[in-house]
Amino acid sequence: MSRTIDQFEYARKYLAGGVSASTRVNRAIGRPMYIGRAAGCRVWDLDGREYLDLCTSHGATLLGHGNPQVAEAVEHVLARGVGCSYENELHADLARELCEAVPCCERVRFTGSGTEATMHCLRLARAFTGRTRLLKFEGNFHGYHDQVMFALSAPASGPGPETNPAVMPASTGMVGQWAEQLVVVPYNRPDLLERAFAAHGDELAAAICEPIYYNAGCILPTREFMETLRRLTHQHGALLLFDEVLSAFRMGVGGAQEYLGITPDLCSIGKSVGGGFPLSAFGGRQEIMSRLMPEGDCQHSGTYNGHSVAVAAGLAAVRQYRQPGFYTHIATLGGRLYPALQALLERHEIAGRVQGLGARFGIYFGPTREVRDYRDTLAHDRAKMLRFIAAAIDEGVYFHDYGGAACHHGFCAAMTLADVDEALARLDRALGRLVAQSHDATGPKTS
Ligand SMILES: Cc1ncc(COP(=O)(O)O)c(C=O)c1O
Repeated sequence: MSRTIDQFEYARKYLAGGVSASTRVNRAIGRPMYIGRAAGCRVWDLDGREYLDLCTSHGATLLGHGNPQVAEAVEHVLARGVGCSYENELHADLARELCEAVPCCERVRFTGSGTEATMHCLRLARAFTGRTRLLKFEGNFHGYHDQVMFALSAPASGPGPETNPAVMPASTGMVGQWAEQLVVVPYNRPDLLERAFAAHGDELAAAICEPIYYNAGCILPTREFMETLRRLTHQHGALLLFDEVLSAFRMGVGGAQEYLGITPDLCSIGKSVGGGFPLSAFGGRQEIMSRLMPEGDCQHSGTYNGHSVAVAAGLAAVRQYRQPGFYTHIATLGGRLYPALQALLERHEIAGRVQGLGARFGIYFGPTREVRDYRDTLAHDRAKMLRFIAAAIDEGVYFHDYGGAACHHGFCAAMTLADVDEALARLDRALGRLVAQSHDATGPKTS
């Protein structure tokens, strides 16, 4: 008997689709992962099976599960009676940590999720500039609100011409006219960016981007692309908005903007900022942030904004990210994992590519040259990736599938080099099974 399978059957009687969030069903196994216990870089399912966690709560638990300082901070707030929907001294303490660490942040505000953070940034950008249109990049993901949840994947007819990509809504129920507010450009194409700004630059309130395009695995922007984006937004009076929901704290305490040396006007910060608790933030230049009510005229509020438990957890987490040596450890782990994983693909003669930066990475099945934009990910063999994820889970490594063409994976700071080696040994067996499956299906190797 499996408690996991029973649980899914039970959940489906009451929860739509058996889950609280649609992407929690891992398509590789056809059900959600049910976690009974979690500690450090490991999780145990309801049947007591142990896994090394290379999903890390979609990037939220950068410190690992059950981090002692985070737990202590949360217990302290609980002991004080929580004080939900009021401010306490910790809000300004965490805001100060963010303003000190993140280059563009002169002032910040807290929200509950990455979706809310980008939504409020976009409203603020429109309030500040008095313009409505937005430029976004093909494939980049910015949360579940309707404004920019377009052009995440290509329609059956294909992605369309590079100069005029298909702008398909990512869900039914969305207002199609929102697409008219968007100018969509392929990532990493300074030439197309110049063209788009020449045509629409003066109508744009903001250009929003994933400064490291982790939602397609891990795609790095070229220097020319980023410099062009910064220059053109300045020239045309549009705000540059870095969506750092996933990239914040991932490779350095100042996030992608510090890593790239490009300072945006506004940024959204999510996931790891809460140390595993529901918190996000957005911040930017004081001149822009002062447009928020009550100082200014742009609304941003919410009952659970900056919940005191999440703020305490976030403060305990960010203080650890700012400790000397934290990112040396992250770089050491990544430096062992990524080349070794690439070597494993090669040893198993599987065409593929591992791309990683800081604590997050992508594995592409098929492409062997650098993956540089959404269109390159279309060469990635998603069916093979799902078979790999299923084999990895069987061997005791948890990867999540988010339903897109390619997926992002990651490790946490609680990992040691010995844990990385253990993960690699398990993945070696998983890749062996993948090859054996393709032998069974087709006779001689086809990878
Ligand atoms: C870059 C980016 N922006 C926004 C979001 C939305 O964040 P949340 O799921 O916390 O609403 C995500 C989530 O994966 C993300 O990766």
